[in-house]
Parts: sequence; C-alpha cells; structure tokens
Amino acid sequence: MDRELALEFARVTEAAALAAARWLGTGKKNEADNAATTAMRAVFDTIDIDGTVVIGEGEMDEAPMLYIGEKLGRGTGAVDVAVDPLEGTNIVAKGLWNAITVVAVSPSGTMLHAPDMYMEKIAVGPLARGRVHLDAPVEENLRAVAAATGKDIRDVVAVLLDRPRHAELIERIRRAGARIQLIPDGDVAAAVNTAFPETGVDILLGSGGAPEGVLAAAALKCLGGELQGRLLPQTPEEEARCVQMGSHAGTVLTMQDLLRTDDAIFAATGVTNGELLRGVRFLPGDQAVTHTLVMRASSGTVRLIETHHRLLTKPNLIMV
Ligand code: FBP
Repeated sequence: MDRELALEFARVTEAAALAAARWLGTGKKNEADNAATTAMRAVFDTIDIDGTVVIGEGEMDEAPMLYIGEKLGRGTGAVDVAVDPLEGTNIVAKGLWNAITVVAVSPSGTMLHAPDMYMEKIAVGPLARGRVHLDAPVEENLRAVAAATGKDIRDVVAVLLDRPRHAELIERIRRAGARIQLIPDGDVAAAVNTAFPETGVDILLGSGGAPEGVLAAAALKCLGGELQGRLLPQTPEEEARCVQMGSHAGTVLTMQDLLRTDDAIFAATGVTNGELLRGVRFLPGDQAVTHTLVMRASSGTVRLIETHHRLLTKPNLIMV
C-alpha cells in the first residue's frame, strides 16, 4: 500500500476523535459512537482506496455501526479495513482515560475476519516477543516478561479489563508477585501500551473483544510486539460461526493468523487523555489539537502526530 495512505488514515481517526470528543462526560455513549462513526465514514469516502470493512462494530455493544461488508473509499486498490470508530464508548460518556478512535488497513484477504465475540489475549512489546505463550501458565509468562525486560517480577505490570471473569487470573498474577493495572474499558490502547515502556505496562492479559484483538495485533505488528488470541464462543451459534470462518475455538491464533501480511497501516487518535496519546483539546478561536499514532508495518515507522485543526473549516465533522 502507498505510504501516503498513512496520513489519510490519520485524517480518518482525527475526524472521528474530534466528533466523539464533543460528547465527553455527557453520559451518552451511543451518541459519541455515532458521531465518531459518521465522521470516520465521511473521511474514508474521500480516500483513493477500494475498502471493505472486515472488522466493524458488533452486537456486543449494540451501537451504530460501520458494518462488516460495508464499502469505503472512492478508488481502486482492494483493501481490508478494520475499524473501531470509538474504542471506549463508556470512557467518553464518563470522561475517563484512554478512549481512542482506531483503524487498521491491509491488502484484501490478509486480515482475520474476527467475529463479534470474546477473545482471550496475551500481548507484549518487542522485548518480550516470542517469549510468552497463551497456553503457558500465567506465572511462567510473567517470569518470561520479567527476564525479557530485565525487570524484577515485582516491577512487571500486567494490564487487564476490570471484569468479574478475570478474578482468578488477577489472584494468580498477585500471587506471582507482579503488579496490576485494571482498566474499565479499552484493551486496544492497553495492548499498544505494552510496546511503549514509558506507559508503565508490560503485558496485556485476559479476554476482550475479538475485533479489538485484530486491531491490537495490527498495531503490535508495526511495533515489533506480539499478540496471541483464542476465540471464546459463548453460545452454540458463536461456536458454529467460528467453524464457518475456519477459526476453531481453542486454537491459539498467532500474529500471522490475525494478520497475514507485513503491509499494514494502523492509526489511532486519542479522544480522552491516555498514557500514550493525549485526548482532543478544544481551544479558543474554534481550534482543536489532536494527538495521533500512525504506523506502517512494512517499514516499522512510528509517527506521533500533533495536529492543530481550525474547526470552522470542517463543520461537517464536528457535532456542535
Ligand atoms: P467499546 O468500543 O464498545 O467501547 O468497547 C470497549 C471494550 O472495553 C473493549 O476495549 C474490549 O475489548 C471490550 O469492550 C470488552 O468487552 P466487555 O465490556 O463485554 O468485557
């Protein structure tokens, strides 16, 4: 894919973030998601790609969707598109940390068509790539991360979604002597953070959305990190869907299974402040500042872009 597309996809996530950020703290998660979705779709349709959404929003949060199979773009060059127009709808509704808008794009047929179900995940940054395994006991994985990062296990921080289903895992991590960051939502940002030592987290554990797993894998491919996943169907219907997709539940999905290419672009913009990305700041004089991470897997280039927007020139992308 053309390297120029990286900037185009940054425009997509910036627009979605600007739109969603207007809903900060309003308690209206669906409205925030809808605003992000509308802005994302509008900017995608200015780009010279022939995109198909292979990962969109799902039944899991019953939010307005960029639906799977939807066509995006106005050009040629068939690509798979994964989107989470607003990763952390509740975060924005409550004005908490680490909400982002996120896309990943790769050549057609290279991305796992992750169904809207849960996925068990393990994600680490480049230092610990190849040193952990989803099937290994958590204690062993934590020791491996400690050795790979040159830390004492007391200094290793595991990040997990704060969910009752993680109670036993949390207990085992505590007994192993590592530390824990529990997050209310947003495991894409958490997985990405494992590749940036300054964020203070070393490993993502636990289960979250499968689409988010593929998005995070795309980011970690650009960053030289690793994510392994396992689909966790909750009903016979979900089980059947896995089989239909050729993705048997129980199988460990490697980076190659999640994204069969090194030709991928990932972009994410902060909506609310996070460890890595600052949230949207609206400034006097109809201006706003966004902070975006945009990366290409083929070159491994990682750009953190601060963009100053003059909102009067983009009225359609902002909910006012
Ligand atoms: P949204 O994009 O719907 O806000 O998802 C937030 C999220 O926390 C994801 O980061 C995570 O993968 C998933 O929801 C976890 O699902 P659940 O809330 O059902 O545990």
